[in-house]
Amino acid sequence: MTTLITGIGELTTNDPAHGVLTDAAVVLDGDRVAWAGPAAGAPDADERVDVEGRAVLPGWVDSHSHLVFAGDRTAEFEARMAGQPYTAGGIAVTVNATRDATDAELAANLARHVSEALRQGTTCLETKTGYGLNVADEARSATIAAEVADEVTFLGAHLVPPGADAESYVDLVCGPMLDAVAGSVRWADVFCETGAFDEEQSGRVLAAAAQRGLGLRVHGNQLGEGPGVQLAVRHGAASVDHCTYLSDDDVAALAGSDTVATLLPACDLSTRQPLAPGRRLLDAGATVALASNANPGSSYTTSMAFCVATAVLQMGLSVAEAVWAATAGGAAALRRDDVGVLRAGARADLQVLDAPSVTHLAYRPGVPLTHAVWRKGIRVV
Ligand code: NIG
Repeated sequence: MTTLITGIGELTTNDPAHGVLTDAAVVLDGDRVAWAGPAAGAPDADERVDVEGRAVLPGWVDSHSHLVFAGDRTAEFEARMAGQPYTAGGIAVTVNATRDATDAELAANLARHVSEALRQGTTCLETKTGYGLNVADEARSATIAAEVADEVTFLGAHLVPPGADAESYVDLVCGPMLDAVAGSVRWADVFCETGAFDEEQSGRVLAAAAQRGLGLRVHGNQLGEGPGVQLAVRHGAASVDHCTYLSDDDVAALAGSDTVATLLPACDLSTRQPLAPGRRLLDAGATVALASNANPGSSYTTSMAFCVATAVLQMGLSVAEAVWAATAGGAAALRRDDVGVLRAGARADLQVLDAPSVTHLAYRPGVPLTHAVWRKGIRVV
């Protein structure tokens, strides 16, 4: 079954061969893009959908979320808005609620948030473990995530569980926990930050994960300058996420590496941190991704459009740079070339905005602009 999407007023392809086209069309064949280009050259298809001048772009690629969780942290958010600082310690509240939840409750909560994201155009989503923090709860979190998410990351090294000895806990993460999750996850991550894991402990986790063939990611430089970025680059991590506080050396290291700087503007706002230096990173030549960091503590939103608008309005990115970072940038952070792009052979993931151009994502912040969404060739909105 082929579908011709025509009447596209502005088509963002992220394909260097086409860039942004006006008066364009896309043909889907099953779960793949068969063709994208100027409308005049479009081939015939079994069905035709006219989007009447609207803007079309790849579906969002959200490369950072924490959606295997139970419970709620509204009280912590209210305290923060009243002046309390965000600390890693709040993670333990969600760990307790997650351990108390049944598999069915965790799966239903995850599915609800993934569906919320999809309705807003997120067609490829990574999510993490990290609220289990023992072998059994990390293993079931990974299994539940693997049922729904496109990409799953093991984050046993999210926090030393209250009362545990840090060194023994790192040994547990590097041995039995990694063994228990390895079949369900592609990535391993570590929260390298004061109050979580130090540089040596984080390095041990990354080395153990790499030994098992997992790709690496790092939470780094979220609450202050620290070793996270340099550690990620040294270990060849695909991505270092947060990057809110960066030294000049950190920026240079990112610019000279394949490690993507994944920025989480909704988290910076919700934790009342400064916005990550997106402009500085791009000017230095680093690859930048934008992601939601959807989680109940530091960033409780699944809206990639909100992240794009914030990156434009507050971080100094152009609309084109922010849209690229939230699509192709996310794909780069996940080391994928089949999503975040509209060209023949790519996954048939795209969104239609109820607007004539992607500029409206920042020009009309907060307005729900999702008109239609296809994921794997199936129209879901
Ligand atoms: O990316 N920084 C560590 N982990 C999450 C926060 C998790 C939480 O507070 O529950 C983050 O912001």
